[in-house]
Amino acid sequence: MEFSVKSGRPEKQRSACVVVGVFQTRKMSPAARKLDEASAGAISGVIRRGDMEGKKGQILLLHNLPNLPCERVLLVGCGKEKEFDGGAYRQTIEKAAEFLNKTGTREAVLFLTELEIKRRDIAWRVRHAVEAVQTALYRFDQLKTKNREDRRPLRRMTMFVSRRSDLPASEDSLREGVAVSAGTKLAMDLGNLPGNICTPTYLAERAQTLQQAHPIKTTVLGKADMEKLRMGALLSVARGSRQPAKLITMEYNGAGADEAPVVLIGKGLTFDAGGISLKPAASMDEMKFDMCGAASVFGALQAAAELELPINVVGVVPSSENLPDGDANKPGDIVTSMSGQTIEVLNTDAEGRLLLCDALTYSERFKPAMVIDIATLTGACVVALGAHASGLMSNNNRVMREILAAGTYAHDRAWQLPLWDEYQKQLDSNFADIANIGGREAGTITAACFLSRFTKNFKWAHLDIAGTAWKTGKEKGATGRPVPLLTQFLIDRCGKHKRTGTQH
Ligand code: BES
Ligand code: MN
Ligand code: ZN
Repeated sequence: MEFSVKSGRPEKQRSACVVVGVFQTRKMSPAARKLDEASAGAISGVIRRGDMEGKKGQILLLHNLPNLPCERVLLVGCGKEKEFDGGAYRQTIEKAAEFLNKTGTREAVLFLTELEIKRRDIAWRVRHAVEAVQTALYRFDQLKTKNREDRRPLRRMTMFVSRRSDLPASEDSLREGVAVSAGTKLAMDLGNLPGNICTPTYLAERAQTLQQAHPIKTTVLGKADMEKLRMGALLSVARGSRQPAKLITMEYNGAGADEAPVVLIGKGLTFDAGGISLKPAASMDEMKFDMCGAASVFGALQAAAELELPINVVGVVPSSENLPDGDANKPGDIVTSMSGQTIEVLNTDAEGRLLLCDALTYSERFKPAMVIDIATLTGACVVALGAHASGLMSNNNRVMREILAAGTYAHDRAWQLPLWDEYQKQLDSNFADIANIGGREAGTITAACFLSRFTKNFKWAHLDIAGTAWKTGKEKGATGRPVPLLTQFLIDRCGKHKRTGTQH
């Protein structure tokens, strides 16, 4: 897919399709009005006859309107103008792109970027138009031998910018949108791959590939290396699986060697059956998505490298399967983490934190400016926040605010949960320093409390993406979240894309 921005008049576009908005009820957008005037009322005529109310998601394709050089005009319903916000904007564009792709239109000029949204400037609108189009066009059919959609897909999209002076900023944000979309797609592809293909070894190979295409340095540690580092918690989970565990490190150095890196740690369980504390059969297939934290680290690193961000980022991915086996962790087993703290494994299904705690201790060697871990960690987070917000907990308020702001701007939102000391005692163990579960109450928070025991030496934030990383039901599939949030966080830290007129 090719994107570009340009300024110009809608009625002059020699395009296969010009896309314009209509608000409820029957209110034409400025570009629609210009097309209407030029075509002697062809559009208002259609609207008057009741074919387009402007309801959100409504769509109407018009052919060969008089006096217009474009072949088609696509009217897209935008809903009520007063309620038109960032979310509605993205949905409207997704709808339009999906429709164009289905109808075999190869190329279009999008005038929906003219629509005003409170506190969002043209740079934001261009950036999110790119992401919305790419989201709408995403397919995962590499493992289907039939019914692959390989007819005439949408290939080129030009986005309208009303003021010529806005073109440079729009081009920057177009580049951001393309990089974020590519990172998101990488995360979606990795997430959607099944557990028999996407193993820890496969992830390690993909990390090596990332290194070939981008200025990224990849290193992969195996069992013997991790034994030397005394990663007893991580390795205890791996004992239940025939697939060897890997600790993958990807370093992107966009800034000077003396600048402390941001470390991103992604949970990489390529399949989580629960271990001896076996999960029920229903929906267990979805536990192939338990490596979506890892996938988001791949995606964010690729995006940072593609944008050549002047920042140092280290991606750390502890990867394993969690299966029942004669040598697997048993409830009550006590393991020793790399930090030296002992852990009583009361539930073998709380395995993510066992990998993450050793990865957190490991990350100290990078002398990080901060560490963010991203994990499909608790079913409790799905109950608390559902599919729209990732859970966010941190030991540093400033980092917390920066992540929340990045998520809002990227439309990949997170929501804060408390990490108060009072929750810590739920992790008391009679036999070890700490238990790996904290009981029924506040499961997302006690999981973060567990991690917090390993983050005393640096600023740290934890994103629980159990509800946001994939969709269940008919549209089952990885979302690529939180690649947009993470990439935005990195962009913001560089401070080089200071935007005016946009509030996070
Ligand atoms: N990967 C799961 C969390 C999960 C479950 C994410 C369902 C999305 C949907 C994690 O490893 C897990 O099993 N967590 C347990 C923790 C519990 C045993 C304390 C859970 O949430 O049930
Ligand atoms: Mn589990
Ligand atoms: Zn898990």
